[in-house]
Amino acid sequence: MTGASMSPMSPMNVTSAVSAKRGGYAPGSLLTVADLPVEQVSAILAATARIERMPHAERVRMLAGRRVALLFYESSTRTRTSFELAAKSLGATTTLVSDKSSSIEKGESLKDTGLTLRALGAECIILRHPASGAPFLLARMTGLPVLNAGDGMHAHPSQALLDLRTILTRLYGAERAVTVTAESLRGVTVVITGDILHSRVARSNAELLPKLGAKVVLCGPEALLPEDALGLGSGVEIARDFDVALRQAVAHGPGVAMMLRIQKERLAGMELDLGDYIARYQLNGERMAACAPYALVMHPGPMIRGLEIAGDVADGPQSAVEDQVRNGLAVRTALLVRALGAGGFESVTV
Ligand code: CP
Repeated sequence: MTGASMSPMSPMNVTSAVSAKRGGYAPGSLLTVADLPVEQVSAILAATARIERMPHAERVRMLAGRRVALLFYESSTRTRTSFELAAKSLGATTTLVSDKSSSIEKGESLKDTGLTLRALGAECIILRHPASGAPFLLARMTGLPVLNAGDGMHAHPSQALLDLRTILTRLYGAERAVTVTAESLRGVTVVITGDILHSRVARSNAELLPKLGAKVVLCGPEALLPEDALGLGSGVEIARDFDVALRQAVAHGPGVAMMLRIQKERLAGMELDLGDYIARYQLNGERMAACAPYALVMHPGPMIRGLEIAGDVADGPQSAVEDQVRNGLAVRTALLVRALGAGGFESVTV
């Protein structure tokens, strides 16, 4: 990396430190959901529904002739493929640059890679990067709209938006996933369980869902969930006992069990007793039946069956995992239209 420093910091403090660098980014960028107003969330969901209903011929004209670059420094199946298919479905031309098969391997910096893509005509860059804050740097260096496809342990804003659409659709029906207010998820508890410490998905969901009235309960052992996670905002609580958290989640209203993968690649020497973890935190059929038989089951993927989630639950009737993937494709069409200033979106940056 060149330019802005990427020094290590306490993972739970990444959000505020990165947010402090905001400002001066191209309209249509989506770098975080932390400051995304509810009105913008609503506009993105409304555009998602509008584009989804569009006849193919109209849809492919929306971004015809526009150029979108996907710049991926980390592996991805869902995010990369859905952004690419979304762009193509709108008529845009896409190009993929990955760290494995580009001049990044030879040491080219993020800044120079971004400037090269801009010189080649890219009008928007979708970036996944292992360093928290990298999309902010790229947006500042290139002046292009940047869509954050996941940066380190910081944020995954499009994942939180697709998760929101999935929750609304599965709990209330598609018509309730078009317009949202600060009350739309009032009474809903979302228990996010697993490797919260390293999870950009948990962080973005904890920032977004309470804006719509949801209670977010972060659940896991101390090693994967430090107490300072409470600093993610109001509407966020911490639980250590998964069974109790699940029971409380469904005691007074709809409950969601969102499971997270143990990110072995980010554990950095941390010892974790997997047998104990599975016993205490795995979502399996027995636990579901005993604690929350009607809870909606979510997982951003990739899932490790037999570890954080049992196969029968992942494939069961309460599972919304494939809906999440489908909603990822849908929501990302709206984010691309917004980034490229098409489809009636106002000029906004978040
Ligand atoms: N949810 C998610 O970001 O999945 P990928 O890593 O496959 O993109």
